[in-house]
Amino acid sequence: MPEGHYAAPPADLNALDEKVWARTVSRDTDGVVQVGGIPVTRLAEEFGTPAYFVDETDFRARCRAWADAFGKDADVFYAGKAFLSRAVVRWLKEEGLNLDVCSGGELTTALDAGMPAERIAFHGNNKSAEEIERAVRTGVGRIVLDSFQEIVRVAHIAQSLGKRQKVQIRVTVGVEAHTHEFIATAHEDQKFGIALAGGEAAEAVRRALKLDGLELIGIHSHIGSQIFDTSGFEVAAHRVVGLLKEVRDEHGVELPEIDLGGGLGIAYTSDDDPREPHEIAKALNEIVTRECEAAGLRTPRISVEPGRAIVGPTAFTLYEVGTVKPLAGLRTYVSVDGGMSDNIRTALYDAEYSVALVSRTSDAEPMLSRVVGKHCESGDIVVKDAFLPADIAPGDLIAVPATGAYCRSMASNYNHVLRPPVVAVRDGEARVIVRRETEEDLLRLDVG
Ligand SMILES: Cc1ncc(COP(=O)(O)O)c(C=O)c1O
Repeated sequence: MPEGHYAAPPADLNALDEKVWARTVSRDTDGVVQVGGIPVTRLAEEFGTPAYFVDETDFRARCRAWADAFGKDADVFYAGKAFLSRAVVRWLKEEGLNLDVCSGGELTTALDAGMPAERIAFHGNNKSAEEIERAVRTGVGRIVLDSFQEIVRVAHIAQSLGKRQKVQIRVTVGVEAHTHEFIATAHEDQKFGIALAGGEAAEAVRRALKLDGLELIGIHSHIGSQIFDTSGFEVAAHRVVGLLKEVRDEHGVELPEIDLGGGLGIAYTSDDDPREPHEIAKALNEIVTRECEAAGLRTPRISVEPGRAIVGPTAFTLYEVGTVKPLAGLRTYVSVDGGMSDNIRTALYDAEYSVALVSRTSDAEPMLSRVVGKHCESGDIVVKDAFLPADIAPGDLIAVPATGAYCRSMASNYNHVLRPPVVAVRDGEARVIVRRETEEDLLRLDVG
């Protein structure tokens, strides 16, 4: 066996682990995978490959699960950076979620699709003056301040528009969490937020409270990504509540809100065991309540910002196999018609994914495979280690599940490859919500 990280072959290569596939995905009686009642063979014919297919029923159900889990006394902000389109904004609005945006482009998409401005939070470590002005003018619910300069900048812009802008201050709590591990004394050496350590965050609060253009409503912290347990949040909440107590003692003000950010994990492979929204909500509520009781504070209103945990599992990328190249004693390289331009996460973070043959079933032996793209780059890997049936052949359709988050939103035009469409599927109907890029689109930007 070659070196590398891969699990033993699954007992049944045709089985679809429900942990990693969107909820309406199954195999039909012919063995073809379907989503929302539509076989992928038909979807490929109609929309081409590569393409992202998002299970709208599943997306909406996940929004409701998060909203219900946190209830009326908390706020769930979907993190638009995971994937945003006008259809998604409408789904969020209809299912009662709020939205976190972090650029003028995301703000425009949100407002254009009718998200009420007061349900929008505006993030970012370097918002331009124009973006801030637009956010204040349109009445976004909160701006999350990320630096001392921004405190002054937002206050000045709000005042010049005759407004008092609701803001939170993003702090770095010295906790870094990824998957099951977290470091409670993580260094503050990163671009986001204002450090709690050394009293910088307390100073930021001091300055924000003095400025007429700002209404400071709370403290924000985001500790990482793909997190499976709540112990990192426990330390973060302890430290944020410590700051709330300092603020109360120094200024006689109890800040009414605390935002614990996003970062909740999903299953990319069968090895991952994410927790349900109601378990997460219960744990976070208990942690914050306990910490506030201990500090003698009223429990603030909690908000969270899940992105991946809502959209990630609801989509898969459908590819057509182009070439199959067995490397003796190593593995077989299966090339598809997309690659790092539609999923950069494997190259960027060494992310793990699953893959399945979806246009048919197969009884062939499992074959150690690497799914690669069509780009001029040897790091162009979509799935590093996976088992596919040994009879896989050009023309077969394969799908990579759990590509709803940070795939289309991070897609590029590397090699002038065209970005795939996003197709929403629901109750036997499929419709394009983001169309495939065309070569005319590329030429339109290239002004010659
Ligand atoms: C401030 C903030 N909130 C929410 C998120 C969403 O994280 P995830 O999609 O992992 O839930 C991020 C991700 O980077 C973030 O920086």
